[in-house]
Amino acid sequence: MSTKIAYTPIGIVHSPHRRPRGTPIQPATAAGVPGTVEVFEEYREGLRDLEGFSHIVLLYHFHRSKGFSLRVVPFLDTRPRGVFATRAPKRPNPIGLSVVRLKRIENGVLHVRNVDILDNTPLLDIKPYVPEFDGPTEARTGWLEKARKTARRRKADGRFA
Ligand SMILES: C[S@@+](CC[C@H](N)C(=O)[O-])C[C@H]1O[C@@H](n2cnc3c(N)ncnc32)[C@H](O)[C@@H]1O
Repeated sequence: MSTKIAYTPIGIVHSPHRRPRGTPIQPATAAGVPGTVEVFEEYREGLRDLEGFSHIVLLYHFHRSKGFSLRVVPFLDTRPRGVFATRAPKRPNPIGLSVVRLKRIENGVLHVRNVDILDNTPLLDIKPYVPEFDGPTEARTGWLEKARKTARRRKADGRFA
């Protein structure tokens, strides 16, 4: 069964990243990179009480992604992996998820840091980041564990590109 689902953006993300090349691959590699999230007027009431959270989850549409592949070579690896085992932007439903630092909210505009999102990205949703809900204490990280070890070894050998 295939059902079409249409979402309406609730806002727009502004960032210094104008093109995919050179944009950090995750908030963890975008330390300090500033951005703003402009929430459209009609949704601003929903921002009430958000300011008490240091981090928020942004869900957005990868609007510059064209098509998808079910097997992709992730940024952090050299071998093809199933797309759902990666965070690649070319996915059947091109939805992005970034946990960013919330600095302040002014007139419906969220000032954030650690942004790995392209400028003018349509925003689908905002949720507060809650470590007890979102950060399992024991988490395995599949192929990434090996990829990280290889990267560390290459770095130690001075072979890291
Ligand atoms: C590997 S993805 C991870 C994004 C998000 N943190 C996630 O896990 O869903 C990050 C890359 O997506 C690309 N990207 C960011 N915003 C995009 C957009 N609106 N459309 C297409 N690609 C985008 C950039 O090249 C960036 O380096």
